[in-house]
Order: sequence, then C-alpha cells, then structure tokens
Amino acid sequence: MSDEYILVTGGAGYIGSHTVIELINHGYKVVIADNLSNSSYDAVARIEFIVKQHVPFYKVDIRNEKELNQVFSNHKISGVIHFAALKAVGESTKIPLEYYDNNVSGTIALLNVCKSNNVKTIVFSSSATVYGDVTRFGDNSMIPIPEHCPMDPTNPYGRTKFVIESILKDIYDSDELWKVAILRYFNPIGAHPSGLLGEDPLGIPNNLLPYLAQVAIGRREKLSIFGNDYNSHDGTPIRDYIHVVDLAKGHIAALAYLKNLQSKGLYREWNLGTGKGSTVFDVYHAFCRAVGKELPYEVVARRAGDVLDLTAKPDRANKELNWKAELTVDDACKDLWKWTTENPYGFHIDNYSWENFDGYNNRLHSFVNGPLKVNLANHGALIQKVLLDGVNMVKAYDNAADFKDKSNPFFGTTVGRFANRVAKGQFELNGKKYQLTQNEGNNNLHAGFNGFDKQDFLGPVVKHKDGKFLVDFLIVDKDGNDGFPGEVEAIVHYTIDESSVGIEYECRLLSGEATIVNMTNHSYFDVSDSANIDGTEVKLVTDQMMEVDAELIPTGKFVANEYVTDPIVLDEKKPFDNCFIVDDDNCGIDTRARPLKKVFEATHPKTNNKFTVETTEPAFQFYTGDGVNTKGFAKRCGFCVEPSRFIDAINHEKWANQVILKKGEVYGSKIKYGFTKK
Ligand code: NAD
Ligand code: UD1
Repeated sequence: MSDEYILVTGGAGYIGSHTVIELINHGYKVVIADNLSNSSYDAVARIEFIVKQHVPFYKVDIRNEKELNQVFSNHKISGVIHFAALKAVGESTKIPLEYYDNNVSGTIALLNVCKSNNVKTIVFSSSATVYGDVTRFGDNSMIPIPEHCPMDPTNPYGRTKFVIESILKDIYDSDELWKVAILRYFNPIGAHPSGLLGEDPLGIPNNLLPYLAQVAIGRREKLSIFGNDYNSHDGTPIRDYIHVVDLAKGHIAALAYLKNLQSKGLYREWNLGTGKGSTVFDVYHAFCRAVGKELPYEVVARRAGDVLDLTAKPDRANKELNWKAELTVDDACKDLWKWTTENPYGFHIDNYSWENFDGYNNRLHSFVNGPLKVNLANHGALIQKVLLDGVNMVKAYDNAADFKDKSNPFFGTTVGRFANRVAKGQFELNGKKYQLTQNEGNNNLHAGFNGFDKQDFLGPVVKHKDGKFLVDFLIVDKDGNDGFPGEVEAIVHYTIDESSVGIEYECRLLSGEATIVNMTNHSYFDVSDSANIDGTEVKLVTDQMMEVDAELIPTGKFVANEYVTDPIVLDEKKPFDNCFIVDDDNCGIDTRARPLKKVFEATHPKTNNKFTVETTEPAFQFYTGDGVNTKGFAKRCGFCVEPSRFIDAINHEKWANQVILKKGEVYGSKIKYGFTKK
C-alpha cells in the first residue's frame, strides 16, 4: 500500500464521513482535518469502527495555516477533498461575513498550504445552488441543469461556492499542473446503511428529510410543506435527491479521474445528481413507506427563495467519471430511518461525554446513569472508573501514559486474545505446534507483551436504548501477534445501567482456520473506599477450585472450595490468586446463551457498598492484587474477578473446545459487574 494520504477537510461531517469510508473501501489512506464546528468526534470513532482501521484525525480549523501545515508535515498528502464549510443558506443571509471568512478565507488558507507543500490535486464540494434560479431562463432550456448553465447564486452561501470555484479556476489558469474537480451536489439525503453515520443537524432542521425524520421520531409535531401551487404533478417543488453514499462514490470517481491524468492538469465541473426529479410529496410518501405509517403534515405558504425545479443533468459525470447514482429515494429513506431510530438525537446522547486522554487517539468516555458514573477508555477498552454516588469502586490511573506503562498491572483492561496462562506458551492446534511469547517466566500470561490491554481499540459506537448506554469497542488483532495464529476481530460491548456494567465479548477469525481465544476483564475493584481492601467481606459462590502447580498452571484436577457459602473477610495473610469453577459443563466457544450466574459478592461494613459478579463463563480467577506496586497504588489496593474459560484449557484435551475458535464461528461470553448499596 502506498504511504500517500488523501486529506479530507470536513471529514467528520455528513458527506465527508461517508466519503472517508468509500475512500478507505477503495484502498486510499485518509487523514481527516475538521474543527468539529458542525460535527462530532463520535463520527470519526464510528468511521474507524466501520472500516476497522485507525484513521488519523486532526482537530484543525482550515483557516489556521500553521496547524494545517503540520498535518502535511506529518503525512505525505497526495490530494485533498475539501468539504469543510458552513452550509446553511438561511444562516448565511444573517452572518455573511462568517460565511465568507470560513468558506472563502478557509479555502485560501488551505490552498496556500497545498501550494507550499506542492499538493495540486483537489476535489471541491460545490453546490447546485451556484446555478441559482434556473427557471429564470423561462423556456426550460436549463432543466435538467447542465454544467454550462450560467451561475447566479442567490444567497451568500451560494456566493461563497461561486467565489471559491472562481479562485480555483484562476489558480489553474496560472499553473496548469493543478488538477481541480468541482463537484456540484444536488440534494444529498439518506445515511450509511450500517445505521452508524448520518446527518446530525443541530437545532431545527432546514432541509426536508432531516425535518421529516424528526417528525417521525416524535421530536417535531408535523411537517410544513412549503406550497402546493407549483407547476408539478402534485403542486410541490421538484428536486434531485441523491443518496449520500452515491454522492460519496462520486468523489472517488473524480479523484481517480484526476489521478489518471498523469502529469497533465485540469479544471472541470461535474454535476453529482441522479437526473431524476422528485416532488416534496414523492419524498414524503417514500419516507412514510420506510417508517410504515402516515406522518402528520400541513401545507403552508411557499418558502422564500424556493424554485420549482432543480434537477441535474448528470451526463457529464456519468460519461467522464464513469459514475452513476444507483440508489433510489426509497433506499435513502430506509437508511435514514435506520439511522434515526438507532440515533434519535444524532451523535448527541444526554449524560454521555468524552475528553482526550492522550490526543485524539486515546479518549476517555464518561457515562452517567442515575447514581453510577462510569469512565471507559478506548486504550484496552478499559474501565477507568466506576463511581457509585461519587464513591470510586475501581482502582486505576487518571492518565493514559500510566495505563500504557509497563508497570501497569492490567488496571481496568480487557484481557485477550487469551486471558490467564498458557503453559510454556505452547499449544498444538490442527496438528501444528505454536510457540507464544513467554512473558511470565516460562509461561504466556494474558496474551503476552502486546495483548489487547496494550492496544488502542477502535470506536466506540455509543447508543442509548431503554435507559441503558450501549458502548462498543472493536479491535483487529494481527495474525502472529505474540505468536497467536490468525487475524481476529474482537468486540467489547459494554452495557451501563443504573446499577451495573455489563460486558459482552465477541470474537471472530478474519484469517486462518483456527485460533485460541479467552477474554476477560482485569479491573481492580474496591468496596472499602480506602487504599486497602482488607476487611472486605467476600462470598465466592462456587464449590470447586482448580488445583494448580507452583506456576499457577492447572494439574487437571478440581478441589473443594473451602470457602463455599460463608463470607470470608479479606486479610493479607490469606492472599488469593485462585481459579474457581462455576461448572464443568461443556460450555463450548460461545457461552452467551447460558444463564448469567451469580458467582461473587463483596461488601464492606464501612461503606455498605456492594459489588457482585454474574457470568456465563465456566470459571473465574479471584486475585487480591498482592503483586500491585505501581505509581499511586500499593498491593491489595483492589481485587480482580476475572470470569473466563479454564486456565490453559488448550493444553487439556477435555477443556480445549472451550477456547478453540474456528473459521466461521463466534467466540462469546458475558460478565455483569453490579455496583449497589447493601
Ligand atoms: P457538514 O456541516 O456536515 O460538514 C462540514 C464539516 O466541515 C463539518 O464537520 C464542520 O465541522 C467542518 N468545518 C466547517 N468549517 C470548518 C473549518 N473552518 N475548518 C475545519 N473544519 C470545518 O456539511 P455537509 O453536508 O457534509 O457538507 C459538506 C460540504 O458539501 C460543504 O462544503 C457543503 O457546502 C457542501 N454541500 C452540502 C450540501 C448538503 O445538502 N449537505 C449540498 C451541496 C453542497
Ligand atoms: C437547500 C439549499 C441548497 C442546499 C440544499 C441541501 C436553499 C434555497 N437551498 O436546497 O443550497 O444545497 O438545501 O442542503 O435553501 N421543504 C418543505 N418543508 C420543509 C423543508 C423543505 O416543504 O420543512 C421543501 C422545500 O420547499 C423544497 C424541498 O422540500 O421544495 C427541499 O428543500 P430542502 O431540503 O431545504 O432543500 P433545497 O431547498 O432544495
């Protein structure tokens, strides 16, 4: 793969985010620069989740040449797709200077930086609005609208696009090595079919479909249809609505066209539309079909500035770019409805916020649900904090650097691809012997030197449903990492309600025939609200323990759990690092269909805080943190309860099928950590 990047300005926005996905799907490497003035970093996190790879992001205002130049220094940029702009027609009439400054000055700054870095390939987001009211030609000669239609924008926003097109033309005229594609969009609609990305208008939407979507979800009472006395089949105006994914693909086609020019330059405009006009009622009915019910509307007076017909003549793009819109208004409505129902307030979710933990690559995501406040970081998909009524029940650092330091005793983190120990780091699978890294004496512990705990997860995708936060992180672990065979994709789903943090693990093989998987969480919990867990009352709800040797490797036998039902009081004279057996049924590779079983409870008389563990897993490790000796934390600062498969299961014939993940199968497990008052 080439080390050249396409810079996407405004890549966190509606059209930009869809285009970034298409670029990556077409093998391009992308860097995003966006000041997030009309978007959210959550869109970038979701892009990464969808494309399953890291996408460098810079929170930069394109008017800041110095910061923009830094992006060009950090990445070898071969071309730019320039979306960053303010785009609300109505607003532009109120604050025209801001529009000229942001859009025109911003583009000049961007072009200065391009020029000084010798980057001369640019695809620019223009708009059909540059044509103005094409009915002014009277004879319908400009409907559908061809690129040669004279420009006459009727509002400041449209004029910024006209000015920028003119600047780009002048630059090309001064230096014919520039390759400039002007893409004039008609009416972009719809959302990503995954339901993860879409338009997220702040305030009251101006545009037809975003408004209608908010009516459908109950955020607005009814749609106002702006006039039904136009000369169309049903009296409402005609527009060329284009699915945003088709539009995004148009950018890939334009970029490829420019790249194919080799050393020659070009300045050329292309309409991106479908060539098919739809009336407001056509769109209204299509969306009602997607929703499955009639939505309330009222016909009101015409909106100032609206015209009868703005339909594209897309022939030039069809022929020259070899691009054609393929999706229908019905497709767009279906995808918009999925996006709306799954994200009723777009990327905004009440009581969810995030901050940089270490630049944009590491972030801390906070969720408040009643008395519970939970912080999760994408590094290791870890639990950084759980506060119950303000009292912290998880011991961990307050900064990303300490989490990444070698001295971190797995604070809060997801352990995988293989939790606990593999004896001598060796195992055999399908007749082949594998040697893993030996990071604890002879053995492999928690996957080795570069396990999930040492890596940054992609995402999260955050949603709120039925009073719960749903938070998904994803990781792709490379074939051969620490000696494990096959590339895997693992997802950590957190569910946060008012009294618990649920975790569901899911893992699939992306390459190879089989691998081994065993995932768990390694948080250090504490119910004492003090520096030491001694005095904590604990119930280990199992009747068997695993017999292990001096290196904590199982002998293959179980022994009775001497603590069974009686609560025990933690005391440093009785340190724990033991594996308890929940059951010896043949649980298979996916335990998620099994009932959650309560296996552990801890309380402390001083706080009355109660911590419980439920799981679908056949075993759990209980560790009292006797080895902890790290910045700010001493031994026994917290305890771990790590539900998982049997230790070293792969090297015990009767347990091996708990951990062997074959192509086409899904590894799955569930844990529920409860945080309440006694
Ligand atoms: P959007 O607002 O969702 O995306 C624009 C992005 O640019 C946002 O993420 C915003 O934060 C960013 N941005 C704005 N000013 C910036 C600055 N100075 N520095 C850095 N980032 C900045 O809008 P969109 O609908 O995705 O539109 C993208 C482009 O397409 C715009 O240029 C718009 O004018 C053009 N366009 C949009 C439509 C439409 O209907 N959505 C139609 C025609 C043309
Ligand atoms: C507007 C912008 C255009 C921009 C486009 C997409 C104007 C003059 N043009 O186009 O520059 O590229 O948005 O962002 O603003 N309608 C209703 N009720 C509503 C909303 C809209 O009946 O609540 C009707 C309008 O009258 C119009 C059609 O729906 O006929 C589409 O409107 P809209 O989505 O706002 O797009 P445009 O006006 O075509």
